[in-house]
Amino acid sequence: MAAYEYETHEYDVVVVGAGGAGLRATLGMAEQGLRTACISKVFPTRSHTVAAQGGIAASLGNMGPDSWQWHLYDTVKGSDWLGDTDAMEYLAREAPKAVYELEHYGVPFSRTEEGKIYQRPFGGHTTEFGEGPPVQRTCAAADRTGHAILHTLYGQSLKEKAEFFIEYFAIDLIMSDDGVCQGVVAWKLDDGTMHVFSAKTVVLATGGYGRAYFSATSAHTCTGDGGGMVARAGLPLQDMEFVQFHPTGIYGSGCLITEGARGEGGYLTNSEGERFMERYAPTYKDLASRDVVSRCMTIEIRDGRGVGPNKDHIHLHLNHLPPETLAERLPGISESARIFAGVDLTKEPIPVLPTVHYNMGGIPTNYWGEALNPTKKNPDAIVPGLMAVGEAGCASVHGANRLGSNSLIDLVVFGRAAAIRAGETVNPNEANPTPSRASIEKCLDRFDGLRHASGSVATAELRLEMQKTMQSDAAVFRTDKTLAEGVQKMTAVAAKMDDVKVTDRSLVWNSDLMETLELANLMPNALATIVGAEARKESRGAHAHEDYPNRDDKVWRKHSIAHVDGNKVKLSYRPVHLEPLTRHEDGGIDPKKIAPKARVY
Ligand code: FUM
Repeated sequence: MAAYEYETHEYDVVVVGAGGAGLRATLGMAEQGLRTACISKVFPTRSHTVAAQGGIAASLGNMGPDSWQWHLYDTVKGSDWLGDTDAMEYLAREAPKAVYELEHYGVPFSRTEEGKIYQRPFGGHTTEFGEGPPVQRTCAAADRTGHAILHTLYGQSLKEKAEFFIEYFAIDLIMSDDGVCQGVVAWKLDDGTMHVFSAKTVVLATGGYGRAYFSATSAHTCTGDGGGMVARAGLPLQDMEFVQFHPTGIYGSGCLITEGARGEGGYLTNSEGERFMERYAPTYKDLASRDVVSRCMTIEIRDGRGVGPNKDHIHLHLNHLPPETLAERLPGISESARIFAGVDLTKEPIPVLPTVHYNMGGIPTNYWGEALNPTKKNPDAIVPGLMAVGEAGCASVHGANRLGSNSLIDLVVFGRAAAIRAGETVNPNEANPTPSRASIEKCLDRFDGLRHASGSVATAELRLEMQKTMQSDAAVFRTDKTLAEGVQKMTAVAAKMDDVKVTDRSLVWNSDLMETLELANLMPNALATIVGAEARKESRGAHAHEDYPNRDDKVWRKHSIAHVDGNKVKLSYRPVHLEPLTRHEDGGIDPKKIAPKARVY
């Protein structure tokens, strides 16, 4: 048994993660007078939301007609009919409220001439239930929208007296024998002390796991920590096979060039100078949904029409746009293009390539953010004391493919929803749970095991092996062969966690140990992804299976549920929620509008 002293803390709610979802949840909890702690492994305003560029979707209708029903339709179609209809309706309906709240909290949105929030077009967002022209629905603060939101939410959370535990690394959930989440154990990175947080509700807002791949727009901190903790607690992950590739990562560095660039009039060309998206998506062209654009770019490259000496990337043109527009609307990417591609975008195209950007899958939740542990009898069974929001969670509003700018709105709508729900379920006058000594020791023992790991494979070496495997075998296009090989390789890679080597045994600023803990979190996420992908014999959204090129709603319109134990994954499935929240007679969407059909742009 590991002998660690620890400090104990008691809160009504502990939020793990301080990105957009974590901070919106923290703020909402604190506003209601709940004693709220937010634990973050990085300084809050350095969370990955800070990198979100193009904007946040909400049908404000500032630039032309729009409605939440159109937004819902686009989200259903974007999800390739895998999203849960109740959650998608909640997102689209609550989005305007959530954005106006942000405005009132102080987010410095860009403005129209009349002083309204500026909105730009984004891929897959349309009018008239996909029959009309693209809509300007994405509310923007230039191309630094995430930055603006994160700083505002952090300031507001401090004002509401939420308490922050910054540069604390959450190691594991504390689970009671009867499956209730009672808190979390964390390691304070700068002094090596251990901390036990007991809470009536724990909210996981730990972000995605983009770093399971070799090339990703995600920060190096995006290591699926929530998914790792959940898997170790014996709880499942959902729809992990759906990994989004953003069409425009800068070739080489993977750094994001916002879809807002195409929203403002940018377009893609191949080696023949052809605007090839006109061929694939005649109506919405470069503003088709992301999975579609990424696939078309990959086909162009595979067919020998890539640009550059190796014909292995594509050009994004913005040089035809007025320099004033670029300076006002896209200042951030003007800088990124110069630094990471050596390109002056007022004069030359940017070299780009589809790059891993977002995980549609995650910890299954309902639309209040309550974590689920589905059983055959009850596919919507709730895990007491546990919530998950943001990219870590899977509500599921993005289904098989997320629309651009539906991520930031997901963060704030469901961060807010979790706070509303906790306001109903958490009683500040009740005593906190008292985790058993054994449940705490279990977390500390695992930590100690990794701290003293003395195998033969260095963490960085094993991480690279995982990233290369995922990059080549769970890519934009997948086949039975690549996926079967991928499962085999990833199973072997994950088994090597038992042979990992940590060389630094200290407890203070031990980045070797921290990266090993992160790798241990990435592994179950990566495994669930490739095993889920291998099992799904159809193409849907971001899962483009060349041996099964069509969507198969009869067999596969269902969520995959993965239980990961070491290097073994057990799959089961749960039904998609098909019912909207509001009946058509009461102003809800006409169910006929969202019935499955071919997904063309
Ligand atoms: O392209 C972007 O600005 C990314 C937005 C998103 O992923 O929602």
